[in-house]
Amino acid sequence: MEKRKMHGTWSSRWTFILAATGSAVGLGNIWKFPYITGENGGGAFVLVYLLCIAVIGIPIMMAETMLGRSGRQSPINTMRDLAVEAGTSRAWVAIGWMGVLAGLLILSFYSVIAGWALNYVFAIADGTFVNATGATVESYFETLQANKYEMIQWHSIFMLMTLAVVIGGVTKGLGNAVRILMPVLFVLLLMLLGYGMSEGNFTAGFNFLFNFKFDLLTWDGVLVALGHAFFTLSLGMGAIMAYGSYMPGDAPIGKTIITVAFLDTAVALVAGLAIFPVVFANEALEPGAGPGLLFVSLPVAFGSMSGGVVFGTLFFVLISLAAWSSAISLIEPGVAWLVESKNFSRLSANLLLGTIAWTLGLGTVLSFNDWAGEEYHILGVTFFDFVDKLTANFMLPIGGMLIAIFAGWFMKKSHVRREMSHESPEMFELWRALVRYISPTLVALVFGFLVWDMLIN
Ligand code: TRP
Repeated sequence: MEKRKMHGTWSSRWTFILAATGSAVGLGNIWKFPYITGENGGGAFVLVYLLCIAVIGIPIMMAETMLGRSGRQSPINTMRDLAVEAGTSRAWVAIGWMGVLAGLLILSFYSVIAGWALNYVFAIADGTFVNATGATVESYFETLQANKYEMIQWHSIFMLMTLAVVIGGVTKGLGNAVRILMPVLFVLLLMLLGYGMSEGNFTAGFNFLFNFKFDLLTWDGVLVALGHAFFTLSLGMGAIMAYGSYMPGDAPIGKTIITVAFLDTAVALVAGLAIFPVVFANEALEPGAGPGLLFVSLPVAFGSMSGGVVFGTLFFVLISLAAWSSAISLIEPGVAWLVESKNFSRLSANLLLGTIAWTLGLGTVLSFNDWAGEEYHILGVTFFDFVDKLTANFMLPIGGMLIAIFAGWFMKKSHVRREMSHESPEMFELWRALVRYISPTLVALVFGFLVWDMLIN
C-alpha cells in the first residue's frame, strides 16, 4: 500500500488502457510507421510488422505489465526486488537501467520531431499551405530543417510541455486528457482517410501497403519492423512497466493489453491508408522520402481540401498532443526512480533528466543541417539515425527479450499465475509458452540473420 501511495494509481482499468494507449499512440504511428514502410518497400514490411506485434509484442507487453504490477515501483527497483524474490542475480536490474537510458535517448529526438509538428500547427493555421503543391511544401520543410534555431525553439517548447505534466504526476491529469484526445484523433484520421479515398490515388496507396512484395524486403527491413513493433507499443524500456505499476490489482492483464495493441495498430494502419494515397497522387512526393514524409504529404492534402486550414491545424494539434502523451512515458521511469531512491522531488528529477534529453536532442537538430555531412556520421548514419536505430532496433528488442526471459524462466510460476489470475488456464499456458520459447527465440533469430547477412555480403 505504501509503495502505491508514493506515485498514485490509475482510477480504473480503463484509465490504464487510456494512459497506455496514450503512450503507445504517438509519432510512431503517424510519422514513423508511414515513412519506414515507404523506405522498406511497403506490403511485405507491413506484414512482418503485424506478425511482430501479434507474436512478440503482445506477449512481451503482457509480461512487462505483469512485472510492473507485481513490483509496484520504478522499473529499476521493481527489477531488483523481483530478482531478489525469485532468488536470482541482481544483475537483472540492468533491464531498468538500460530502459532509463533508452527513454532519454528516444525522448531526445522525439521532442525535436514533435517540435516540427508544433511548427506546422502555426504554419497551417496561417494559411501557408493553401493550394500548395508538393514542391512548395517541400521547400517550406527544407527551410525549417535548415534553421537550427527555429527547431531548437520548438524542441524546447515541447520538452517543457512534457516536463510540466510529469512534474504534476502522471496518474492525475493524463487519464482524462487522453479520454478526449484519442477519439478526436481517430475521427480526424478517418476524415483524412476519406480525403485519400476521394481525392488521392487510393488504389495505389492500398496496394503499396497490402501487396506483399517480398523481394523488396531485406533482413535489415525485418529488423526495422521488429524494432518498430517495440517502439510503437512503448515496449522494452520500462514505460509500460512503470504504467503497469500504477494499475489496479484486480484488472485483467491479457484483455487490457490486447485492447491497447489493437487500438495502436488501428491508428497506424489508418494513418498509412490516409497518407499513401496522397503521396501517390502527387508527382513531387515519393514513398521513400524518409522522415519528412508526413510533413510534406499532409499539407498538400489539407491545402487543397475545403476547410483544410481548420482541419489541418486541428490535425497537427492532435499529432502534437499524441506525441506529448507518449513523451511523458519516456521520462517517467527515470523520474520515478530518482524520487523513490535518491530523495529527489518530482520537480528536480524532471529538471535533471529533461536537461539531459534536451541536450542530446541538439544532436538531432544538427543532423538536419550542420551535422548532415558525412564527416559527422556515426557508423555511416547521422546522429539522429544513429540514436533512432540504436534504441528502436537494438535497445528495445534486447530489453524486451530480457523481460520475456525473466518473466518466463526466472520468476516463480505461482507468483506469475497470481498476477495473471484473470486468464483462463489455456490462455495462461499459451502466453507462457510464447514468452518462454517463441518471443525470445524470434528476436534472437532476427539478430542472428542480420549478422549472417552482413557476413555473407
Ligand atoms: N510508442 C510511442 C510512439 O509510437 C513512443 C514511445 C513512448 C515509446 N514511450 C515509449 C517508445 C517507450 C519506446 C519505449 O510514438
